[in-house]
Amino acid sequence: MDIVIYGSQYGTAKRYAEELANRTRFVLKSYEYVEDINTYETIIYIGALYAGGVMGMKKTFKNMKDCGNHRIIIATVGLADPSDKENTDTIKNGMKNQLSKEVYDKAMIVHLRGGIDYSKLGFKHKTMMSMLYKKAVTLPEEKKTAEVKAMIETYNKQVDFVDFNSLDSIIHEL
Ligand SMILES: Cc1cc2nc3c(=O)[nH]c(=O)nc-3n(C[C@H](O)[C@H](O)[C@H](O)COP(=O)(O)O)c2cc1C
Repeated sequence: MDIVIYGSQYGTAKRYAEELANRTRFVLKSYEYVEDINTYETIIYIGALYAGGVMGMKKTFKNMKDCGNHRIIIATVGLADPSDKENTDTIKNGMKNQLSKEVYDKAMIVHLRGGIDYSKLGFKHKTMMSMLYKKAVTLPEEKKTAEVKAMIETYNKQVDFVDFNSLDSIIHEL
């Protein structure tokens, strides 16, 4: 059996996962409900980025026994522009710390763009973003990474960069 697993707080990563499950007819589950990762052949993990961490990813893959038996695709969903190499290098470096070397090396990694709706953020996330924003605006222009720029541009707004066409690279891989 094959599966699409998602880690999503506010629904953007989930929307990508649902679309992919529709197109592939794979089983669809939130990471919280995956009982045994080892039972699936192809595993597509779609996780939202929170302060560089891919939601639910570490917990999901730590139970994998032998990744040689699986095809693994991991897609991150974040606000920052995935066409910016500095941004994707930072994301990948973070992922190295959240996965075993075996899983990291085996996985095809894809970066998708999500969105944000400040009116829906919980108190903790709102506070975090407010702190990050206050710090970000004081940075000199040359120190502003794609991540920082995306945050400043979208602060307190509702933006949606979800683009299902960006799933084509995953579909082609299957
Ligand atoms: C507290 C907080 C931290 C975030 N950290 C990152 C980040 O490190 N990199 C990034 O690209 N996006 C970051 N984002 C943006 C989310 O990844 C983006 O909103 C994503 O679409 C959320 O997915 P979800 O709707 O499935 O939860 C952050 C958002 C919040 C609220």
